[in-house]
Amino acid sequence: MERVRLTIDGKEVITAAGNTILMAARQAHIAIPTLCYHPKLPISGACRACVVEVEGRPALVASCATPVAEGMVVHTRTERVLRARRLVAQLLLASGDHNCLTCQANGRCELQQLAYELGVEELEYSAEPPGYPKDTSNAMIERDLNRCILCGRCVRACNEVQVNEVIDYGYRGKRAKIVTAWDLPYGESNCVFCGECVSVCPTGALTETQAKFRGRPWVIRKVRTTCVYCGTGCQLDLNVVDGRVIKVTSDYRHGPPNYGSLCVKGRFGYDFIHHPDRLTKPLIREDGEFREASWEEAIGLVAKRLGEIKAKHGPQALAVLSSARCTNEENYLLQKFTRSVLGTNNIDHCARL
Ligand code: FES
Repeated sequence: MERVRLTIDGKEVITAAGNTILMAARQAHIAIPTLCYHPKLPISGACRACVVEVEGRPALVASCATPVAEGMVVHTRTERVLRARRLVAQLLLASGDHNCLTCQANGRCELQQLAYELGVEELEYSAEPPGYPKDTSNAMIERDLNRCILCGRCVRACNEVQVNEVIDYGYRGKRAKIVTAWDLPYGESNCVFCGECVSVCPTGALTETQAKFRGRPWVIRKVRTTCVYCGTGCQLDLNVVDGRVIKVTSDYRHGPPNYGSLCVKGRFGYDFIHHPDRLTKPLIREDGEFREASWEEAIGLVAKRLGEIKAKHGPQALAVLSSARCTNEENYLLQKFTRSVLGTNNIDHCARL
């Protein structure tokens, strides 16, 4: 692999040819803020939060979109660079309604973090708030375009990662916003609610409805697990507050098979966990009515009845249906039980359910 040698903030960095200045800086543990950049998404270079100074170039360049070159000399924290980044932060803050008080993204918002890092205490510009009504047209994703910074991460996630092609930029100038086809609310659009847009949104413009007011980012404990819905084995994080799952996320750094992407079931189909109708105790039907039983009693009854059927009709009278929602180990045990204990090869599984 061809290597390139450059200098960033006086530090010599050797990186692969084709890498961007941002990638080289991060390799060397030199922090550069970003907003529209996301490692999982194609580069757009839209926000200019990541600008740096390159010796010999008259204008500041977007480090996320500029490839390294041999002998390049880069400065990431000159007064000129910081002034430009502050201007970006000021204009973005002025262009929307970024009241953090009850924002669901408070504590993980990348615009908030940028303003903090740059010491933006006073807003220098003011503009008429856009006044968009919140889109609460569905049960899963709340869309507040007043908090949208038009970074386009959701658009690239929808169109180029999930390839659902549901949202895009619409209108122009001051009226520019992210829209579905015919500017319909999410709930009336052809969105499939995979939530990829939510997972990459850097602000509180797209948030999980069910998690609203149920826990700030800093009280959430993440428990990594495998999705229970199908056999793909997507890796996800249960976001837990006070012992209850308030939302499901997935980190692209988890790697295969899903690299942070989920489907609607994996991301939003978790309310069964704490649902009051969920069966948590065995039930035995007697005279057409269910009654609660202990595990010992229930398992004893099943063993007795299976034994009776096998004795009377032979093992081929028995069949077992397993599930792709079980773990590999559970499915292995069930086929072992079916073949070795029941004495039949009648075992299958229901792939999707
Ligand atoms: Fe580089 Fe937006 S992060 S231009």
